[in-house]
Amino acid sequence: MKIDIISVVPDLLTSPFSHSIMKRAADKGLLQVNIINLRQYTTYARAQVDDYQFGGGAGMVLMMEPLVNAVEALQQQTSYDEVIYLTPDGETFNQPMANQLSLKNNLLMICGHYKGIDQRFRDHFVTKEISIGDYVLSGGELAAAVLTDAIGRLIPGVLNDESSALTDSFQDNLLAPPVYTRPENFRGWTIPNVLKSGNHQLIDQWRYEQALERTKTRRPDLLDE
Ligand code: ADE
Repeated sequence: MKIDIISVVPDLLTSPFSHSIMKRAADKGLLQVNIINLRQYTTYARAQVDDYQFGGGAGMVLMMEPLVNAVEALQQQTSYDEVIYLTPDGETFNQPMANQLSLKNNLLMICGHYKGIDQRFRDHFVTKEISIGDYVLSGGELAAAVLTDAIGRLIPGVLNDESSALTDSFQDNLLAPPVYTRPENFRGWTIPNVLKSGNHQLIDQWRYEQALERTKTRRPDLLDE
């Protein structure tokens, strides 16, 4: 999969994909992330990419010209399955959306900044608008990093233990059960005996009950869905 990300602050995105699972995905050739600096695509003086909003009001808006130049230049090279705009008024991101997007080949993400981007770009170029939650970030970059991570780890072959993505929280509308590692006894705090039983049926049953209990107390809304 290829994910291209257009940003006016590309430095914000230099590090998140060079570590851990995202790095492994890149090393295995399963995920390629390209960061594109929007300023490369403006013809305005001093690499200007934003301007005041018509009608007045605080905050700058990213202009049509650099955005359209960038997207049209990239589209010459790549046919995108989705052009995603990260915005707090988009559809709230969740695990089913991550699952769906992990099946695509090419994604383009647009990071807004300041007051956002010209509505005409949203109307004519964007195919999906996504929010990562009900709060406002300074720009879409951290949201794009969140999406890329959540999507990238689901690409087949990225995780070593293929089953491990399936037991994540949310994969079946349940939160994940508790986990423990060595030592078995730390300051007298021991682990549930069932986990040492070697009986995988019992362990699976225990994990399911724990997941259900956790979901009931912490996120009952997930069980209503
Ligand atoms: N840009 C600013 N805030 C955002 C949010 N909550 N989700 C996605 N993009 C954003």
